[in-house]
Amino acid sequence: MGRTQIAIIGAGPAGLLLGQLLHKYGIDNVILERKDPDYVLSRIRAGVLEQGAVDMLDEAGVSARLHREGLVHDGIEIAFGGVRHRIDLKQASGGKSVTVYGQTEVTRDLMEARAEAGLTTIYDAADVSLHDFDGANPTVRYVKDGATQELACDFMAGCDGFHGISRLSVPAGAVRNFERIYPFGWLGLLSDTPPVSPELIYTNHERGFALCSMRSKHRSRYYVQCSLDDQVEQWSDDRFWEELKRRLDPEAADHLVTGPSIEKSIAPLRSFVAEPMRFGKLFLAGDAAHIVPPTGAKGLNLAASDVHYLSTALREFYAEKSSAGIDAYSGRALARIWKAERFSWWMTSMLHRFPDSDGFAGRIQSAELDYLVGSAAATASLAENYVGLPY
Ligand code: APR
Ligand code: PHB
Repeated sequence: MGRTQIAIIGAGPAGLLLGQLLHKYGIDNVILERKDPDYVLSRIRAGVLEQGAVDMLDEAGVSARLHREGLVHDGIEIAFGGVRHRIDLKQASGGKSVTVYGQTEVTRDLMEARAEAGLTTIYDAADVSLHDFDGANPTVRYVKDGATQELACDFMAGCDGFHGISRLSVPAGAVRNFERIYPFGWLGLLSDTPPVSPELIYTNHERGFALCSMRSKHRSRYYVQCSLDDQVEQWSDDRFWEELKRRLDPEAADHLVTGPSIEKSIAPLRSFVAEPMRFGKLFLAGDAAHIVPPTGAKGLNLAASDVHYLSTALREFYAEKSSAGIDAYSGRALARIWKAERFSWWMTSMLHRFPDSDGFAGRIQSAELDYLVGSAAATASLAENYVGLPY
């Protein structure tokens, strides 16, 4: 039987970042991942990093390319009624910005650093199961190349995403789930075309929400709100570009450069939180414990703040023989998570078309948007949350 201090389940950004930081602190860890590295790198997700997440990647020693290639953004635009309004994030947040850098690239940088440091990642680990995390001999079992293996550990970190096994390994009565499903999805398209505008544009339009984002000065990422029944095959590139153009303000529609898609997919929108995030010697972090709708791009940033709380708690446990940090982990992480849940829900509610039979919700939405761009206090509140609340 193998042994490690921390068995990490899942090699997404949460598991990889945690592993890298623990290694820096001299804490031994092994990652078990169900898929292969190429699969992990094929997932396209949001691309906006808060300063706190950048600081974590700095600390982990994996940020050289991010600082070279990432785009620092000091503002975003909110469009409604066919007019764009710039939110000066930097000015309204007392000097903070965000960095636009694809999550796929963050994952790639973390994977390379882990390989360089010679740390163990077991890819294609099937049937991972968690045992005795409430007892004296926590053990993770898995199947690799047809043979069952066992890994003993001090603690387990469940970083295996929303569909992972970690949260599901906890007795149903020990965990409480909170959830909202939204009545629409996002259809996303990636293309090697210059972004329509240097900053992100979030658009509220009567045909539905649209977002103009980017990965670099040559690669764009666009989204349109779609129906949950839509299939990606129904959306040719031409249909996508046509729909996006109809939702943009005239100037953006005019400047939009179209081209063949590199990737196109539909994602549902969900808010979800599982409480607590610790069960004996098992900790949950990242999407394993919570999901936000993508409006506001908080998914990866929340994974980073969880990893901050968890890595510092484990460091304190080993260096100072103190359980204070691990005892406080769930409460500290959840306090920040719920604020990001609130923000993501609010951004989603403000910018999308919802079924609204009597028009009341639509009027409230218009008032919300008007208030947002007309009030320095409202603008500051959006900016403070968008650049990231403190850890
Ligand atoms: N056994 C082993 N690994 C598993 C299992 C399992 N039973 N189930 C899932 N995994 C792996 C997945 O294959 C995936 O690589 O766990 C990883 C979880 O990664 P993510 O889903 O990316 O979750 P997380 O690391 O928490 O990411 C947080 O990044 O991926 C985004 O949407 C996510 O923005 C959020 C942020
Ligand atoms: C993205 O670039 O994919 C992105 C950006 C901002 C969001 C969501 C997604 O709010």
